[in-house]
Amino acid sequence: SNGYFTYDPGFMATSACESKITFIDGDKGILLHRGYPIDQLAEQSDYLETCYLLLNGELPNAEQKVAFEKLITNHTMVHEQLQFFYRGFRRDAHPMAVMCGVVGALSAFYHDSLDINNPEHRHIAAIRLIAKMPTMAAMSYKYSMGQPFMYPRNDLSYSENFLHMMFATPCEEYKVNPIIAKAMDRIFVLHADHEQNASTSTVRLTGSTGANPYACIAAGIAALWGPSHGGANEAVLKMLDEIGDVSNLDNFIARVKDKNDSTKLMGFGHRVYKNFDPRAKVMKQTCDEVLTALGINDPQLELAMKLEEIALNDEYFVKRKLYPNVDFYSGIILKAIGIPTSMFTVIFALGRTPGWIAHWLEMHSASYKIGRPRQLYTGSVQRDFVPVDKR
Ligand code: SDX
Repeated sequence: SNGYFTYDPGFMATSACESKITFIDGDKGILLHRGYPIDQLAEQSDYLETCYLLLNGELPNAEQKVAFEKLITNHTMVHEQLQFFYRGFRRDAHPMAVMCGVVGALSAFYHDSLDINNPEHRHIAAIRLIAKMPTMAAMSYKYSMGQPFMYPRNDLSYSENFLHMMFATPCEEYKVNPIIAKAMDRIFVLHADHEQNASTSTVRLTGSTGANPYACIAAGIAALWGPSHGGANEAVLKMLDEIGDVSNLDNFIARVKDKNDSTKLMGFGHRVYKNFDPRAKVMKQTCDEVLTALGINDPQLELAMKLEEIALNDEYFVKRKLYPNVDFYSGIILKAIGIPTSMFTVIFALGRTPGWIAHWLEMHSASYKIGRPRQLYTGSVQRDFVPVDKR
């Protein structure tokens, strides 16, 4: 008993878990990474600093920050043979399908040399994954475009490098706009970790079997892809496209409220936040800043804000405590940056990698049992077999 409640250790070993990484208070809209509020990290820190914090528990000092950035930079290239995995996919394959495949394939490149009982080996696997995700993500986009892969550059920051690998070609350099690079970095920070969400729980459950970290992260990517989870950012833009114009909003809201219609307001609602999602607030502010700075007047932003205003004042949503979540505004920023809708969930997976790997490291930092979620059996009681000629 920890003074609050008594629990059966056996039960805890197969369901809830303890963690020091992220704290969420869904009613108060609080999200802390190692004790630091998400809005302060998004506004004052940067993505690699946040990665360091999630992995190590403390913000880096100036010397540690430089060393960590250099370590990540020096691991951004992928094995030259990895590119051949991409060629096995159809050009129109969804980039998340490609990412499930190629991240899992990293196991084949590093599995033999990895002893997951060795903390040093676990640490380098974490570095490799954080460093190589942008390269592999950009490669999945380039492959879908029929353009050559771009190698990472060591003179660029993490987010600048990702944008370079996405949009540069051998014929023309991509001039990184600092506003866009900062927005990209902030989007990664806002996605970095989120406690025991579906994909992180998948990574922990997979890791509890002793599976290698690359396979665990591939499992997390697969779980994230669903439209109820990380696939929601892509679904929000499809929803806004489908609504088209503010004149169609009332009809759409009526469909959402119709018991016989499965239409959901994508980017709204949350398993934990039953008030506002603090990330959505920062994302909306970033959206305003980026579109204004780039001089973009996107009618979908106006549509999204009108939709939010209607929903926040509609009894159906208020009664069900449905508020915008991290996915509601992110897609509008990504579209302004020039990232195609099909890559939105890949961006989420990229941003979430340090969270996934921090939870994998945390689990391995102490003794653990294989995960075994409990079930309540509601099937048939025991009965004798009936031969087919008697059925
Ligand atoms: C993420 O867990 C995490 O931390 C996830 C995440 C992370 O960072 O890892 O935060 C990222 O996944 C954010 C969520 C992205 N998904 C979406 O935006 C998809 C749309 N949202 C819904 O699918 C839904 O809100 C969930 C799945 C996110 C949460 O579902 P819950 O908490 O299980 O809510 P529920 O299904 O119990 O709903 C309660 C009621 C139901 O109505 P009734 O049966 O009571 O009549 O609210 C309704 C639901 O039908 N409802 C919605 C709705 N979400 C819930 N109705 C319309 N639109 C919605 N979006």
